Amino acid sequence: MIELQGLHKAFGANRVLRGVDLTVPRGESMVIIGGSGTGKSVLLKCILGLVKPDAGQILIEGQDVTRVDREAFLARFGMLFQGGALFDSLSVWQNVAFRLLRGPGKRPKAEAREIAIEKLRRVGLKAQVADLFPAELSGGMQKRVGLARAIAAEPEIIFFDEPTTGLDPIMAGVINELIREIVVEMGATAMTITHDMSSVRAIADDVAMLHDGVIQWTGPVADMDAAPDPYLQQFIHGRADGPIEAVR
Ligand SMILES: Nc1ncnc2c1ncn2[C@@H]1O[C@H](COP(=O)(O)OP(=O)(O)O)[C@@H](O)[C@H]1O
Ligand SMILES: [Mg+2]
Repeated sequence: MIELQGLHKAFGANRVLRGVDLTVPRGESMVIIGGSGTGKSVLLKCILGLVKPDAGQILIEGQDVTRVDREAFLARFGMLFQGGALFDSLSVWQNVAFRLLRGPGKRPKAEAREIAIEKLRRVGLKAQVADLFPAELSGGMQKRVGLARAIAAEPEIIFFDEPTTGLDPIMAGVINELIREIVVEMGATAMTITHDMSSVRAIADDVAMLHDGVIQWTGPVADMDAAPDPYLQQFIHGRADGPIEAVR
């Protein structure tokens, strides 16, 4: 479904991506791990076309993303942004239905609202929440609304950028479980980026570790603990000592 070949991206002298190769099969849940500042968000932004890579190729179902119609391309994606990124001035249901209210697949307002309420229910929120504004919600509820928005248009591919950041461990567990359930239920291809190991174990079929601008290790989540890669082992166990320098 997603294939990255030799992806490079630098910001001035900061060479963030230095030849990323990665394949995500259709219907799989890939989790990308790596320290903060290693380029995980930049990688997602490259795929979405929000950041232009310096070199390399991005293929979606074998098609070069720079050669496809942007609007049709983006309609295939759902995205949960780091920090939620809800629109403050829109009500909860208008946030969830954002895509359904505009663009090519535009729905009548009443129908869009109904779909929004159904998606809110799917993420464990009551219909009454629909008419509140983001500022009236707790952090966990905002994440759920972001999740409802990401799935509202039933995308084929969903990206989750740090879905548990800022949540307490119990709420993080709830969000991880919801993500896993929804991805399985929708049959979507998912790519999650995180530095939270609890998310990895809850969400991943496959794991890829980004370090020094390349995929340092990739494989099924079941193989992760026994993998001999010292970078991977240091990261998953959160050790201060090892090949990854703690001061960056
Ligand atoms: N638009 C930008 N301009 C300049 N530098 C950027 C930009 N976006 C990201 N970076 C840099 O790229 C590196 C990777 O950032 P990012 O992908 O956000 O890391 P993370 O792995 O924590 O998501 C960081 O050093 C960051 O400062
Ligand atoms: Mg990030």
